[in-house]
Amino acid sequence: MTELWLVGIGTGNPDHVTLEGRAALRDAAAVLIPRKGAGKEDLAHLREAILRAADSNARVIPFDMPVRDESLPYAERVARWHDAIALRWQAALEQAPDGPVALLVWGDPGLYDSTLRIAARLPGAPRVRVVPGITALQALTAAHAIPFNTVNGAVSVTTGRRLREGGWPEGAETAVVMLDGQCSFRALEPAGLRIWWGGFLGMPEQVLESGPLAEAGPRIVETRAAARARHGWIMDTYLLRRA
Ligand SMILES: C[S@@+](CC[C@H](N)C(=O)[O-])C[C@H]1O[C@@H](n2cnc3c(N)ncnc32)[C@H](O)[C@@H]1O
Repeated sequence: MTELWLVGIGTGNPDHVTLEGRAALRDAAAVLIPRKGAGKEDLAHLREAILRAADSNARVIPFDMPVRDESLPYAERVARWHDAIALRWQAALEQAPDGPVALLVWGDPGLYDSTLRIAARLPGAPRVRVVPGITALQALTAAHAIPFNTVNGAVSVTTGRRLREGGWPEGAETAVVMLDGQCSFRALEPAGLRIWWGGFLGMPEQVLESGPLAEAGPRIVETRAAARARHGWIMDTYLLRRA
């Protein structure tokens, strides 16, 4: 069975790809590429730039992403969707030449990404190699030139959904929120909290805002809506810290 190389590509800047990532893309026999996704055009250009910079001659094998069945409960919907993606990968892998097959994985393959869970569903248990990438967390703290944690402090990395449903994560001085389409920081009592927010981190369109949550929060809601309207999609991440 083919080896599968999951290559972390960072958060949208071709220069985020590490030397190890470039070498993997150069040496792979094929690269599986999903045909659809938010910002399809932007992502197609990024992918081309990354493969060009790697001097990759890998055969590009496109595959269609299945759609999620929104009528199912959340956990089942995601599990079925992963099953369906694994089937598409399998069909794509059957067309691949001999040799390792790479997938370009946004950020790092281990952070809020299901690529490893999908790979585990493939029949024949292919050997999986992970090439780490720069995460949205790192792109955010670097863009604002702030540390990820306070001295000896706990950080909770969480999702917008959990922040809305569970409030401030217990025991954390710092919370980093990903996968939030709804500016869920609005569900928190803002007193005593600071926010550092970033959209399109690492990309030419990067937008940053920061300040005390009470004052920066409404500004972020506006900036986010305007950036999203301009590009047709957005990815954003933010860090909240108790003052
Ligand atoms: C499915 S997760 C993938 C995370 C990725 N594996 C990583 O290591 O960063 C997608 C979430 O990552 C964050 N994200 C990814 N790229 C980003 C970017 N360029 N700017 C801001 N946030 C980003 C957003 O919170 C988005 O909702």
